[in-house]
Amino acid sequence: MAPLTPLLLRYLVVILIPLFLFSSSASAWKKDEFRNCNQTPFCKCARTRTPHSLPRLIVSDLLISDGHLTAHLQPSLSSEDDVSAGDTPHPRPLVLRLSVYQDGILRLKIDEDYSAPSAPSKQRFEVPDVVLPDFEDRRLWLPRVSSTEDGSISSLYLSDGFEVVLRHDPFEIQVRRKRSNDPIISLNSHGLFEFEQLREKKEGEDWEERFRGHTDTRPHGPQSISFDVSFHGAEFVYGIPEHASTSLALRATRGPGVDHSEPYRLFNLDVFEYLHDSPFGLYGSIPFMLSHGLKGSAGFFWLNAAEMQIDVLAPGWDDSAAAGNDRIDTFWMSEAGIVDTFFFVGPGPKDVLQQYASVTGTLAMPQEFAIAYHQCRWNYRDEEDVATVDAGFDEHDIPYDVLWLDIEHTDGKRYFTWDRVLFPNPEEMQKKLAAKGRHMVTIVDPHIKRDDSYYVHKEATDKGYYVKDATGKDFDGWCWSGSSSYPDTLNPEVREWWAEKFSLKNYGGSTPSLYIWNDMNEPSVFNGPEISMPRDALHFGGVEHRELHNVYGLYFHMATADGLLKRGNGKDRPFVLSRAFFAGSQRHGAIWTGDNSADWDQLRSSVPMILTLGLTGISFSGADVGGFFGNPEPELLVRWYQLAAYYPFFRAHAHHDTKRREPWLFGERRTALIREAIHIRYSLLPYYYSLFRKASISGIPIMRPLWLEFPEDKKTFDNSEAFMIGEGILVQGIYEEGQKSVSVYLPGEQSWYNMRNGAAYSGGQTHKLEVFEDSIPSFQKAGSIVPRKYRFRRSTTQMANDPYTLVIALNSSLAAEGELYIDDGKSYDFEQGAYIHRRFVFSNGKLTSSTIHSASLREKKFSSSCTVERIILLGLPSGAKKAVIEPGNHETEIEPGPLTLRGGASSVALVIRKPNVRIADDWTIKVL
Ligand code: NOJ
Repeated sequence: MAPLTPLLLRYLVVILIPLFLFSSSASAWKKDEFRNCNQTPFCKCARTRTPHSLPRLIVSDLLISDGHLTAHLQPSLSSEDDVSAGDTPHPRPLVLRLSVYQDGILRLKIDEDYSAPSAPSKQRFEVPDVVLPDFEDRRLWLPRVSSTEDGSISSLYLSDGFEVVLRHDPFEIQVRRKRSNDPIISLNSHGLFEFEQLREKKEGEDWEERFRGHTDTRPHGPQSISFDVSFHGAEFVYGIPEHASTSLALRATRGPGVDHSEPYRLFNLDVFEYLHDSPFGLYGSIPFMLSHGLKGSAGFFWLNAAEMQIDVLAPGWDDSAAAGNDRIDTFWMSEAGIVDTFFFVGPGPKDVLQQYASVTGTLAMPQEFAIAYHQCRWNYRDEEDVATVDAGFDEHDIPYDVLWLDIEHTDGKRYFTWDRVLFPNPEEMQKKLAAKGRHMVTIVDPHIKRDDSYYVHKEATDKGYYVKDATGKDFDGWCWSGSSSYPDTLNPEVREWWAEKFSLKNYGGSTPSLYIWNDMNEPSVFNGPEISMPRDALHFGGVEHRELHNVYGLYFHMATADGLLKRGNGKDRPFVLSRAFFAGSQRHGAIWTGDNSADWDQLRSSVPMILTLGLTGISFSGADVGGFFGNPEPELLVRWYQLAAYYPFFRAHAHHDTKRREPWLFGERRTALIREAIHIRYSLLPYYYSLFRKASISGIPIMRPLWLEFPEDKKTFDNSEAFMIGEGILVQGIYEEGQKSVSVYLPGEQSWYNMRNGAAYSGGQTHKLEVFEDSIPSFQKAGSIVPRKYRFRRSTTQMANDPYTLVIALNSSLAAEGELYIDDGKSYDFEQGAYIHRRFVFSNGKLTSSTIHSASLREKKFSSSCTVERIILLGLPSGAKKAVIEPGNHETEIEPGPLTLRGGASSVALVIRKPNVRIADDWTIKVL
């Protein structure tokens, strides 16, 4: 056999490793590639601890300084604990700081005491850039702390009705209701708090960790942190994405009755063919958990970007007789970093989301095109392919807004370049799309090909902008581009440099209608431990990769979004889709759930995954329509379109080994069904855009669990199949092949109108409904008004001047209300008041449109000559014949009519035809 020459070796690694890892013919999830808790020393060790088995931590030196409460935490060592003689070094006191912020937010920080004589020389990593810069402005200045007479407890005002109680011995934090003294969230109630302090290595000590042939040198040794957090009065906990699951509520991972024993893992990973139900980590991490129950909601966020593992403990886990009480205990473990935690008091679930948003921000308002339908595939081969697919949409009368190009469009996976054989005229190609109001997205990954003739690599090398390996050399790992290095976007200077790469001048072949897709930014490293970067790689300021792993993707996303912002001189809203994410990613763009598979279970798990992202701030997210791996049966594909038409981010995507699946390839009937699904989304764009605006202000997601809207309805708490879009629309997915009927729980006391045929159903009941081929069940809530547009064009841009339809679903008092937000759909002028924001109220037989424009924002104006061409009334007793429009005292007819423009036999609604009032104006329409 011929010896392996370096060239051949290189070929094997470049070509075969990716093929092996990512060929769809390979078998499913490779469990062994990834560490489980038992293979992760900090996790294994923390999990063996029993409550109150560690030395007690005692609070001392408590004082108010600069409006914060500060204290020391000192382990109580009994006389038998003579640590100086043993292996364990004498622990230094830790520094604790409590700060209180407006709206019921408590921040608790615990770190080493760097001013102590034996302080470590290395500072532990504190994640920058995630907490909003103006968050500190909302800090309440603590004037004093009140302590009990015996000095065992100190308490602080938190907000009206809530206080913080700090128990001194053993240390415990409780956030509680003032009057009743009922705790809401507590930390260290079970004495599981452990903080491994940085220390000198002793002779003979081995700090290295090995996993599947990789050695982590761990030069700074063990430094993990773990503690227990209890949610009192809670029935369920939610959040901590990203995990694939068919359940929105987090299931217990430890304790009586738990048959699998892995904690929820937060470690950004590129997982091939992930399982649809597993606590293992996926592409992104948000260490934010919310609790909910009839007693209210609360939230807990740990700002820490190292690997984290979280146990949800089943009642009785600690052998107490507490099984069955209304408390959920959780156990949080992290490999490194500091304790920087936020407690949110709620009391309602939307309050918790707003409190969390006030720390990490709300979603960046996207351009309108970005919330419409996207067509993607790995890969659209060449310009001809692009032109054919684009024409296919027009031919089949299906609107779409964005065509995507995956990695093969580049010259050898050198991002910012084009394969000039396949794409000789990229600018012209984009301009042709732009002429129809359409946009293009190209992929730009973080692995930079180590090729001296590639300008990006050359610049990054010369400037020293790459992440370094443990020895201080540029880290060299394998990805799509072969031997690659990764920009160190923790460094603000590197981010600036990266952002410049997106200018029209620097990115040859790009035009202003081109937007970006960031993939593989966990980061994915094919030959790295767990397909990622070694934990001992080094970043800006000597930060170890282990300390920031989960936030690497956010920094890359941030730098890319800044690049697009700069490209448009700060005038155009960027669009960047990212696979990896962390808390705060919502400020930089959209997220998708990565490489799912074309099967029914994955269709089902897409809903809890997207809902969880929404609950943890990432409102703009979606899953690949049709499933990335494998070939969906036409029925599954149609159902996927019908469901995904409601996802906030709506994109079809597929692996290159799959059969082509543009919407018209499955026969006329299926084409019609997919067209109808996409039309539903386009007709709802005015409603969606208004919800995006709301989310960008408040942090309340677009796609919501039922309990967010019906927090007192117990039956909604564990519902993972249905969801709300805003306050007005409830959608029930169909997740089974050949399904003929479905049970839908419709919450609340009001009724619901089936959006397919206008039939009314009472709330607070489960209805068994027939399932149709042409749509999945969706309902408009009685009492809501939904603005829509029913003229179908090629893209959103072409719909800008189209007239509106208002769908009014009346409640039992014959009343309803809704909102509509409009702006230019692309610029930031709305920040200076250039928008229209209307409130519609129907009551006493009269519909009133009035403005809710913030009076303080009037620097710029936005006007629209759009009119309302139709008002559909559901639930109005028949008999109304005409309507009078004011101003103008103009009369118009009311007739029975169909609910949908698909027509059909249904004439369940009353329709005010052609009221032709301008959407921007104040008016009333009285029904007679
Ligand atoms: C992995 C991504 O998740 C997938 O969407 C993409 O098509 C491939 N990388 C190739 O870029």
